[in-house]
Amino acid sequence: MAVIKKIRSRWWSQPVEKYPHEVELEHSVPAAVGTRYDIRPLAISQLDECWRLDQRCFVDGEAYSRETFEYLLTAPESVSFRAAAPGGAMVGFVIGLVEPDHTGHITTVGVAPDHRRRHLAKRLMTEVEKGFRQRNVRLVRLEVRSLNIPAQKLYERLGYAVTQRLPKYYSNGGDGLLMLKSLE
Ligand SMILES: CC(C)(COP(=O)(O)OP(=O)(O)OC[C@H]1O[C@@H](n2cnc3c(N)ncnc32)[C@H](O)[C@@H]1OP(=O)(O)O)[C@@H](O)C(=O)NCCC(=O)NCCS
Repeated sequence: MAVIKKIRSRWWSQPVEKYPHEVELEHSVPAAVGTRYDIRPLAISQLDECWRLDQRCFVDGEAYSRETFEYLLTAPESVSFRAAAPGGAMVGFVIGLVEPDHTGHITTVGVAPDHRRRHLAKRLMTEVEKGFRQRNVRLVRLEVRSLNIPAQKLYERLGYAVTQRLPKYYSNGGDGLLMLKSLE
């Protein structure tokens, strides 16, 4: 998850003692085995649904503000997708931006706790990379918390490699890791 400097002041005001992923999973009930999901474009009309889902994915003050989502979903350089459960409810999302230097930047990806480990994040990431390729992006970057092992495993599985540690990247003092993937 990236820090978007333009509007970062309201984020991550709470110190993180236990990684939020572990707290949330204690209370989630997995969706039925065999549930079929669709990957669809994510548009500004889904702003509130996406913002609410983000708050379930990033607990303890880590979530982006509504203004941040508004900015990310209306930017012309946005390449964003959602995962829809049967009935259409959003259970996952990914937001990418094509940066001015033509790198692809994955700013955030999240899947609802009760729909995890069904390869939804993998499908969302694959779709955003496809969107980047269509816009002539050849290099993708993302930032991840050094304590967020599930996300790091996901990115490694998809071919991303850590290239740099970002000390105190997050406003609660947590370190970030910069990860890169070539689309060549
Ligand atoms: C990280 C996150 C997006 C993964 O979503 P997901 O849909 O469960 O991930 P997938 O099912 O697509 O996982 C694909 C692969 O990633 C790895 N992976 C994903 N979650 C993992 C976990 N908890 N532990 C270990 N490996 C994991 C595995 O290799 C997995 O493949 P496998 O299930 O065949 O072993 C989800 O846990 C989440 O929303 N977390 C909170 C928000 C967050 O941290 N986002 C990333 C910010 S940088």
